[in-house]
Amino acid sequence: MSKPKVIVTRKWPAAVEEKLKEHFDVQLNEDDIPMTTEQLQQALRTADAVCPTVSDSISAEVLSAEPMNAKILGNFGVGFNHIDLGAAKQNDLVVTNTPEVLTDCTADTAMTLMLMVARRAGEGERQVRNKQWTGWRPTHMMGTKVTGKTLGLIGMGRIARAMAHKAYHGFGMKIIFSDPYPPPQNVVDSLNAVARDSVDEVLQEADFVSLHCPGGKETYHLINSERLALMKPAAFLINSARGDVIDLSALIKALNEGTIAGAGLDVFEGEPAVPDALLAMENVVLFPHLGSATIETRVEMGMRVIENIKAFFDGDEPRDRVV
Ligand code: DGY
Repeated sequence: MSKPKVIVTRKWPAAVEEKLKEHFDVQLNEDDIPMTTEQLQQALRTADAVCPTVSDSISAEVLSAEPMNAKILGNFGVGFNHIDLGAAKQNDLVVTNTPEVLTDCTADTAMTLMLMVARRAGEGERQVRNKQWTGWRPTHMMGTKVTGKTLGLIGMGRIARAMAHKAYHGFGMKIIFSDPYPPPQNVVDSLNAVARDSVDEVLQEADFVSLHCPGGKETYHLINSERLALMKPAAFLINSARGDVIDLSALIKALNEGTIAGAGLDVFEGEPAVPDALLAMENVVLFPHLGSATIETRVEMGMRVIENIKAFFDGDEPRDRVV
């Protein structure tokens, strides 16, 4: 029997690409150049499975490709707001993602952003590299203490819980959160966490606010100027979720006016473009969407995609089916 044809939209870790070749007739993207709308449509017309990632917009237009040959989108990533799920469903396409395997590394990234922005680590690094450091002094680059402070989590899914675990057990932080679907009470208790009734309450009370909600229509610009105004002037905002959860113009204004103390951002609306205003600010830490970017995790993500599409073509229910 011939192997299913699989098209991968970006370069994947070598070990995963080798594994793909064992099971499928695979078309890789060795140059790692993002595919155009037309190329994605051609992939859907010719492959049995297309494996996109967060940097591919799998819109209704892309999914209008005819005749549609693909039967499954094996997404490399946990978030799927770049895929029009309604259009996928209409085209009888199964969609899978890669949960769990990136939980800890993404939480580590959120912790890194929190520590870096609080302790002015990016700023300090720039000072040393630019040969501007003149030596130790009692008032040099004083930051904000993290240990013992209040961490407010917006969304309390897997990644938020992992961050809460590190922050509570490692840094003695008090954990508060808001989530319409809160975790089981035993999980809440193990983190000594306290649920708040609304996002606004978390924003008012936290010293560090970390966003962990999915992107998409429901959370679009959840953090706007009104909500930023609720935060303490000494508080910091961390985003390792999705860029469009924050209204960036409102955030830039809030940072300029001292409404909040700083921000640590791994994701941006319209990324990879980042507004010049943010690039010029010392009190923000900016990462190029590194949340899951460890060798271990990226290999596990790829293997999980393989597991999902292999199950599908074997006639089994894929473990991480989204639709
Ligand atoms: C995801 O998986 O959704 C991340 O944003 C990329 O790892």
